[in-house]
Amino acid sequence: MTPDELAIIRGDGQVMHDLADAFATTFYATLFELAPATRSLFPDDLVAQRGKLVDELGFLIEAATSIDDGLGDFVERASELGRRHVEYGVTGNDYVPVGQALIAALRSCIDDWDDEHEAAWMKLYRLIADVMREGTEARLFSAG
Ligand code: HEM
Repeated sequence: MTPDELAIIRGDGQVMHDLADAFATTFYATLFELAPATRSLFPDDLVAQRGKLVDELGFLIEAATSIDDGLGDFVERASELGRRHVEYGVTGNDYVPVGQALIAALRSCIDDWDDEHEAAWMKLYRLIADVMREGTEARLFSAG
Protein backbone atom coordinates (compact mmCIF):
# COMPACT_ATOMS: atom_id res chain seq x y z
CA MET A 1 0.00 0.00 0.00
CA THR A 2 1.24 3.53 -0.72
CA PRO A 3 2.11 6.05 2.04
CA ASP A 4 -0.96 8.10 1.03
CA GLU A 5 -3.22 5.07 1.38
CA LEU A 6 -1.72 4.22 4.77
CA ALA A 7 -2.30 7.81 5.94
CA ILE A 8 -5.95 7.62 4.84
CA ILE A 9 -6.44 4.32 6.66
CA ARG A 10 -4.88 5.68 9.85
CA GLY A 11 -7.03 8.81 9.80
CA ASP A 12 -10.23 6.89 9.06
CA GLY A 13 -9.30 4.29 11.69
CA GLN A 14 -9.24 7.04 14.30
CA VAL A 15 -12.71 8.23 13.27
CA MET A 16 -13.98 4.63 13.30
CA HIS A 17 -12.65 4.27 16.83
CA ASP A 18 -14.24 7.53 17.99
CA LEU A 19 -17.60 6.58 16.45
CA ALA A 20 -17.23 2.90 17.33
CA ASP A 21 -20.83 2.11 18.21
CA ALA A 22 -22.40 3.95 15.28
CA PHE A 23 -19.85 2.40 12.91
CA ALA A 24 -20.42 -1.14 14.15
CA THR A 25 -24.21 -0.76 14.26
CA THR A 26 -24.23 0.27 10.59
CA PHE A 27 -21.79 -2.53 9.79
CA TYR A 28 -24.01 -5.32 11.19
CA ALA A 29 -27.25 -3.78 9.89
CA THR A 30 -25.75 -3.66 6.38
CA LEU A 31 -24.30 -7.16 6.62
CA PHE A 32 -27.62 -8.70 7.70
CA GLU A 33 -29.42 -6.86 4.91
CA LEU A 34 -26.93 -8.03 2.25
CA ALA A 35 -26.50 -11.57 3.59
CA PRO A 36 -29.40 -12.46 5.95
CA ALA A 37 -28.12 -16.01 6.40
CA THR A 38 -25.11 -14.72 8.33
CA ARG A 39 -27.35 -13.42 11.15
CA SER A 40 -27.71 -16.83 12.78
CA LEU A 41 -23.92 -17.20 13.04
CA PHE A 42 -23.84 -14.34 15.57
CA PRO A 43 -25.25 -14.14 19.10
CA ASP A 44 -28.65 -12.41 19.48
CA ASP A 45 -27.07 -9.63 21.49
CA LEU A 46 -24.44 -7.85 19.43
CA VAL A 47 -23.25 -5.33 22.03
CA ALA A 48 -20.04 -7.16 22.91
CA GLN A 49 -19.46 -8.18 19.29
CA ARG A 50 -19.56 -4.55 18.13
CA GLY A 51 -16.75 -3.65 20.52
CA LYS A 52 -14.67 -6.69 19.55
CA LEU A 53 -14.95 -5.87 15.85
CA VAL A 54 -13.76 -2.28 16.31
CA ASP A 55 -10.89 -3.31 18.62
CA GLU A 56 -9.71 -5.99 16.22
CA LEU A 57 -9.88 -3.66 13.21
CA GLY A 58 -7.89 -1.15 15.26
CA PHE A 59 -5.21 -3.74 15.93
CA LEU A 60 -5.05 -4.80 12.27
CA ILE A 61 -4.85 -1.16 11.10
CA GLU A 62 -2.03 -0.49 13.54
CA ALA A 63 -0.15 -3.61 12.46
CA ALA A 64 -0.73 -3.02 8.73
CA THR A 65 0.36 0.62 8.84
CA SER A 66 3.43 0.18 11.07
CA ILE A 67 5.60 -0.72 8.14
CA ASP A 68 8.81 -0.32 10.16
CA ASP A 69 7.96 -3.56 11.95
CA GLY A 70 7.26 -5.45 8.73
CA LEU A 71 3.93 -7.21 8.32
CA GLY A 72 4.73 -10.14 10.63
CA ASP A 73 2.33 -9.14 13.43
CA PHE A 74 -0.37 -8.41 10.93
CA VAL A 75 -0.08 -11.76 9.19
CA GLU A 76 0.03 -13.70 12.44
CA ARG A 77 -2.96 -11.89 13.90
CA ALA A 78 -5.08 -12.08 10.74
CA SER A 79 -4.39 -15.74 10.09
CA GLU A 80 -5.24 -16.68 13.69
CA LEU A 81 -8.43 -14.64 13.33
CA GLY A 82 -9.22 -16.52 10.11
CA ARG A 83 -8.70 -19.88 11.80
CA ARG A 84 -11.10 -18.95 14.61
CA HIS A 85 -13.66 -17.86 12.04
CA VAL A 86 -13.82 -21.38 10.61
CA GLU A 87 -15.05 -22.47 14.04
CA TYR A 88 -17.76 -19.80 13.88
CA GLY A 89 -19.06 -21.41 10.68
CA VAL A 90 -17.76 -18.67 8.36
CA THR A 91 -16.96 -19.69 4.77
CA GLY A 92 -14.91 -18.00 2.03
CA ASN A 93 -17.95 -16.48 0.30
CA ASP A 94 -19.02 -14.67 3.47
CA TYR A 95 -16.03 -12.36 3.08
CA VAL A 96 -17.72 -10.59 0.15
CA PRO A 97 -20.75 -9.11 1.98
CA VAL A 98 -18.58 -8.40 5.03
CA GLY A 99 -16.29 -6.28 2.82
CA GLN A 100 -19.30 -4.42 1.40
CA ALA A 101 -20.68 -3.83 4.91
CA LEU A 102 -17.31 -2.52 6.06
CA ILE A 103 -17.14 0.01 3.23
CA ALA A 104 -20.76 1.10 3.81
CA ALA A 105 -20.17 1.57 7.55
CA LEU A 106 -17.00 3.58 6.97
CA ARG A 107 -18.72 5.73 4.35
CA SER A 108 -21.49 6.52 6.85
CA CYS A 109 -18.98 7.75 9.47
CA ILE A 110 -16.35 9.58 7.44
CA ASP A 111 -17.20 13.08 6.23
CA ASP A 112 -14.58 13.37 3.50
CA TRP A 113 -15.13 9.85 2.14
CA ASP A 114 -14.34 9.63 -1.59
CA ASP A 115 -13.01 7.19 -4.20
CA GLU A 116 -9.51 7.41 -2.76
CA HIS A 117 -10.71 6.35 0.69
CA GLU A 118 -12.71 3.54 -0.85
CA ALA A 119 -9.74 2.28 -2.88
CA ALA A 120 -7.42 2.36 0.16
CA TRP A 121 -9.90 0.42 2.31
CA MET A 122 -10.65 -2.11 -0.38
CA LYS A 123 -6.93 -2.82 -0.61
CA LEU A 124 -6.62 -3.23 3.14
CA TYR A 125 -9.74 -5.38 3.39
CA ARG A 126 -8.55 -7.61 0.55
CA LEU A 127 -5.27 -8.07 2.41
CA ILE A 128 -7.06 -8.95 5.67
CA ALA A 129 -9.52 -11.29 3.96
CA ASP A 130 -6.78 -13.03 1.95
CA VAL A 131 -4.68 -13.70 5.05
CA MET A 132 -7.73 -14.75 7.08
CA ARG A 133 -8.77 -17.20 4.38
CA GLU A 134 -5.29 -18.62 4.17
CA GLY A 135 -5.57 -19.32 7.87
CA THR A 136 -8.88 -20.95 7.04
CA GLU A 137 -7.37 -23.13 4.36
CA ALA A 138 -4.49 -24.10 6.64
CA ARG A 139 -7.06 -25.31 9.18
CA LEU A 140 -9.06 -27.23 6.61
CA PHE A 141 -5.89 -28.76 5.22
CA SER A 142 -4.55 -29.86 8.59
CA ALA A 143 -7.97 -31.28 9.51
CA GLY A 144 -8.19 -33.26 6.46
C1 HEM B 1 -12.22 -7.77 8.58
C2 HEM B 1 -12.57 -9.03 8.84
C3 HEM B 1 -13.08 -9.47 10.18
C4 HEM B 1 -12.74 -9.02 11.42
C5 HEM B 1 -11.73 -7.94 11.80
C6 HEM B 1 -13.54 -9.79 12.37
C7 HEM B 1 -13.46 -9.67 13.75
C8 HEM B 1 -14.06 -10.50 14.66
C9 HEM B 1 -13.77 -10.57 16.08
C10 HEM B 1 -12.75 -9.71 16.80
C11 HEM B 1 -14.57 -11.52 16.62
C12 HEM B 1 -14.59 -11.94 18.12
C13 HEM B 1 -14.07 -13.33 18.33
C14 HEM B 1 -12.61 -13.54 17.95
O1 HEM B 1 -11.76 -12.65 18.13
O2 HEM B 1 -12.31 -14.63 17.45
C15 HEM B 1 -15.38 -12.06 15.55
C16 HEM B 1 -16.32 -13.05 15.69
C17 HEM B 1 -17.15 -13.46 14.69
N1 HEM B 1 -17.12 -13.04 13.37
FE1 HEM B 1 -15.75 -11.86 12.53
N2 HEM B 1 -14.36 -10.65 11.68
C18 HEM B 1 -14.11 -10.48 10.35
C19 HEM B 1 -14.72 -11.16 9.33
C20 HEM B 1 -15.84 -11.93 9.47
C21 HEM B 1 -16.57 -12.54 8.40
C22 HEM B 1 -16.22 -12.48 6.92
C23 HEM B 1 -17.65 -13.15 8.95
C24 HEM B 1 -18.74 -13.87 8.18
C25 HEM B 1 -20.02 -13.68 8.40
C26 HEM B 1 -17.55 -13.00 10.40
C27 HEM B 1 -18.40 -13.55 11.34
C28 HEM B 1 -18.11 -13.69 12.68
C29 HEM B 1 -18.84 -14.57 13.61
C30 HEM B 1 -20.00 -15.47 13.24
C31 HEM B 1 -18.23 -14.42 14.86
C32 HEM B 1 -18.57 -15.19 16.17
C33 HEM B 1 -19.61 -14.52 16.99
C34 HEM B 1 -19.82 -15.31 18.28
O3 HEM B 1 -20.25 -16.45 18.20
O4 HEM B 1 -19.56 -14.75 19.34
N3 HEM B 1 -16.46 -12.24 10.67
N4 HEM B 1 -15.05 -11.43 14.37
